[in-house]
Formats: sequence, C-alpha cells, structure tokens
Amino acid sequence: MKVIVVKDEEEMGKRAAAVIAEDMEDREFYVLGLATGSTPLSLYKQLIAMNKEDELDFASVVTFNLDEYVGLEPDHPQSYRYFMDTNLFDHVNIAKANTHVPGGLAEDPELQCMFYEDLIEDAGGIDFQVLGIGSNGHIGFNEPGSSLSSRTRVVDLTESTIADNARFFDKAEDVPRQAVTMGIGTILESSRVILLATGAGKADVVAKAIEGPVTASVPASALQLHPGVTFVLTEDAAADLKIVRTSR
Ligand code: PGA
Repeated sequence: MKVIVVKDEEEMGKRAAAVIAEDMEDREFYVLGLATGSTPLSLYKQLIAMNKEDELDFASVVTFNLDEYVGLEPDHPQSYRYFMDTNLFDHVNIAKANTHVPGGLAEDPELQCMFYEDLIEDAGGIDFQVLGIGSNGHIGFNEPGSSLSSRTRVVDLTESTIADNARFFDKAEDVPRQAVTMGIGTILESSRVILLATGAGKADVVAKAIEGPVTASVPASALQLHPGVTFVLTEDAAADLKIVRTSR
C-alpha cells in the first residue's frame, strides 16, 4: 500500500483529487465510490474547482456512496444524499440519475441492499472508492466485528459512532441507530481505494489499520488485503506510524 503524508487538509484534498483525476484520464466511463463525513470535504472542494476549470469532466461518471442512515428522508439536512448533493453533485456536471446513495427508507431493506449490489455490478464495479475512517476503525458503517466479506446490509451503529456523529445533530438522541452500508467485501472489490484521514484523534486507529494485524475489530485493517490502496494522511493522523514507509 502507498502512504502519502501531507501538511494539512487542503493538501490532502489536492493530493487525493490528483490521484483520482489521473486514474480517470482517458476513460470513457468511470465509476467512483464516495464517502461522507468531514474528512472528504477538502477532496470534494478540489474536485469542484477542477470541474469548474475544465480539468475534470463528470459527464460520464457514475457514483455509488458507501452508506446512508436508516430513517432519514433524502432531503433531511443530515442525510447522506443531502450531504452529497450540497457538497459535490450540485456543483459539478454530473447527471443526478448517475448518482447513487443507498436508500434509508426502503420497505424491504434486504431486497434494496441486494439491488444496490446489483447496480454496482451492472455498472462494471467501482473503479475508485473514497473512504474515511471512523475513530473506532470503521469504513463505511462497517463497525468493529463486521465480517471482512460482508456485503451491503443494514447495520446497528455503535455507541462510539453515535457519539462521534452527534456533533451534526441537535442532540445525540437524534442520531439514527441504524444505517445501510456497503460491506467490507463490497469495498474490497473496488479496483482502487483511497483512504483519507486527518487529526490527532485518528492517529492510533490509522496506525492499527496500516501496521496492525488484519482483524474484524479494526475494519479498515482489511485494506491490507487489497493491492491498490493509497492512504493520504495529514501529519497528525500519521503520527503513530512506525514501520510502513511514507512519502510526501
Ligand atoms: P469523519 O468520519 O470524516 O467525520 O471523521 C469518518 C468516518 O466515520 O468514516
């Protein structure tokens, strides 16, 4: 795996956008896997800037988001559909019909999860998956203990994730207790993966994910099994790494 350490969030966004843009170059059709949370915001800002400057075209891009809360309407300000529309899709030349976020309101959630997997397969699989990492090591909403071969499904959120995400809601009780998430197995099928992390609070879990054993108790450690993973970390998030060689 490749580990790139950068000075700050702005540089993280620029480096990540450059890696993705290079992979997109000369492709007629491209499937991008996307993430929510605070971490990818600098990447989305950069993708928007590149699109405005005609350096990056989204006309033939199809996207699949990792996850969505169960029970939130798509226009709820904390829904991940709303997040993606307002932080990326509304600002680039992507057709909304080409953007997919798992639905959090399905009458038959199991069927809907299978349908999401089918949609990804019909699109030819994900070319590049963007990930953040939870302070408990989750990727998507695959919480510790998730099977490393899990598929898209409904999951219960852990107390630590509810506490982490409470900052986006008026009170912790408002954070949904369940979510739909792509599985770790689904994520590992992407051709390439880029994981972004920032902040001293992530340093310990980032080191475990990169240098610790592959274990379901740190879901991001499953990325060690993938041959095409790039980590882009700010200096503080990379501070606990000891073994793996990093580059700037
Ligand atoms: P954050 O969330 O970017 O808001 O820290 C990351 C995650 O939970 O995957």
